[in-house]
Amino acid sequence: MQKLQLTLAIIKPHAVKNPVALSYIRQVIKNKFIVVKTKRVSLDKEAASNFYKEHMGKFFYNRLVTFMASGCIDLHIMGHANAVELWRKLLGPTSVYKGQFQEPYCLRGMFGISDTRNVAHGSDSSTSAEREIKFFFPDFSFYEWHEFSEEYYR
Ligand code: TYD
Ligand code: MG
Repeated sequence: MQKLQLTLAIIKPHAVKNPVALSYIRQVIKNKFIVVKTKRVSLDKEAASNFYKEHMGKFFYNRLVTFMASGCIDLHIMGHANAVELWRKLLGPTSVYKGQFQEPYCLRGMFGISDTRNVAHGSDSSTSAEREIKFFFPDFSFYEWHEFSEEYYR
């Protein structure tokens, strides 16, 4: 029996505003993952700087925070046996420019505008996924999820 791993996808403001990008990304997510929970929110600058606090002090931090607070973002808690790695692979490299030369096509290469406006976020490990899910979904029950994911594969 294989347990499902969780990851958190965040569709960034410019992609939420682009109907073609948004429907394509949603289709990819629905095809590849079990979507456990979805929510649309908008962050103020304080929440955005909290979420990205590991990057505080880096040259892109202020730009990143301002951008993430500039419009609605879509959150998806997603399950898959290899959720973290699969979502990051579908996204492609952080640098949109590098993604444009990658085959098969990746979401950042297709719809990214700059290294900051690079379509979506993906947790970088299971531990980060848990922390990030708690950040946006404080009531999320990991216990119930694990029960369910065992049922799912039984
Ligand atoms: P990072 O965690 O390094 O990338 P990833 O999203 O692939 O895990 O950086 C977080 C976000 O910070 C990234 O998605 C976009 C922004 N960023 C920039 O704007 N410029 C940069 O040079 C880097 C490295 C990141
Ligand atoms: Mg990261």
